[in-house]
Amino acid sequence: MARSVCTKSAFELWGHGKTQSELRKSLLSYPQENMAMEYLPFEGTVSLKSPQHIFCLLEDYGTDPNNIPEHPNYIYFGRWIADGQRELIRSHSVKNRHFIGNTTMDAGLSFIMANHAKVKENDLVFDPFVGTGSLLVACSQFGAYVCGTDIDYNTIHGKGRSSRKNQKWRGPDENIRANLRQYGTERMYVDVMVCDASKPVWRKAALFDAIITDPPYGIRESTRRTGSHKDITKSPDCIYVESHVPVSQAYHLSDIFTDLLNFSAHHLVMGGRLVYWLPIYRPEYSERMVPLHPCLRLISNCEQTLSSHTSRRLITMLKIKEPEELDSLAHLADPCVSPYQGHNSFREKYFSGQNKRCGKEDNKSDGAGK
Ligand SMILES: C[S@@+](CC[C@H](N)C(=O)[O-])C[C@H]1O[C@@H](n2cnc3c(N)ncnc32)[C@H](O)[C@@H]1O
Repeated sequence: MARSVCTKSAFELWGHGKTQSELRKSLLSYPQENMAMEYLPFEGTVSLKSPQHIFCLLEDYGTDPNNIPEHPNYIYFGRWIADGQRELIRSHSVKNRHFIGNTTMDAGLSFIMANHAKVKENDLVFDPFVGTGSLLVACSQFGAYVCGTDIDYNTIHGKGRSSRKNQKWRGPDENIRANLRQYGTERMYVDVMVCDASKPVWRKAALFDAIITDPPYGIRESTRRTGSHKDITKSPDCIYVESHVPVSQAYHLSDIFTDLLNFSAHHLVMGGRLVYWLPIYRPEYSERMVPLHPCLRLISNCEQTLSSHTSRRLITMLKIKEPEELDSLAHLADPCVSPYQGHNSFREKYFSGQNKRCGKEDNKSDGAGK
């Protein structure tokens, strides 16, 4: 409960029923020894200001706000144990955040991702597609040191056009470090740098406790990587010869995920977790489209519906083994064998006109339409 942003409160359930009399009957049969106090009805004075115990009656009126029944469908009675951290969603709302962009991840989902990754105090967390750093903000709140990379120079340096209404250019100090400062976690900021995720710059020995990321889908920002039109000779120590100026090339979604899983297999500590969003064209989705890796075990796969035809799935993987030479996914980039190729046309499908938003699921403000 100290971390959950999905739970309002937790209670010790003492009784329940469809009606008051059912509830009463159930309550009377609750074992006295579990009550840890005198039997109901309570005797003695009631202190509303500093109670030793708080009791709650919860009434369930269903989930349709337009169709509320006269009487509750179900009633629960219990002793309050703890509140969750839903307040974090308000206190970290991107509406009041210092530095935001078009695809800034909303606070609630960022905390859910940090929880899926089991981020804890003194962990080192990395986001290879860091953007405005929302995931770093959430992880630093749970006591982790955070770092990230992004291909976009302006995003990393907090320059260029502002994403805010009525503001043309980003102001001074609109950057990821300032975001952490805003929430009192600047000391957990390691750094961010400009880097192409398809050509990571990390030493072999670089290890992270968690890799949490929201890769680009090519909807609101392009999926690009550095490359070359020439057939250049690579030196073993550097990606391009010094005089070469790389050009920007398409970075297919299937390659993004292949690279991400390979990178995580090499740069996660054993037992470390990878958490990321996978865009899905719903009519074609099947579980076998979820990228797998011999060194990473799939822990969970949760859908967030974006529209009638599209959704994204929050994928959580656990590192279970060190990679060996054959454990690379590069061979799966072959369109004949790769189950991930379907993702490459996500953009066309997204804009195909079949992409009707589902009433309640309209998610404009959380960076989902990417
Ligand atoms: C969906 S956004 C991430 C948003 C971020 N979670 C936030 O809260 O602001 C994806 C990011 O990936 C970056 N990107 C695109 N291609 C990249 C590449 N090849 N290497 C690294 N970053 C890349 C984009 O510049 C963009 O900032």
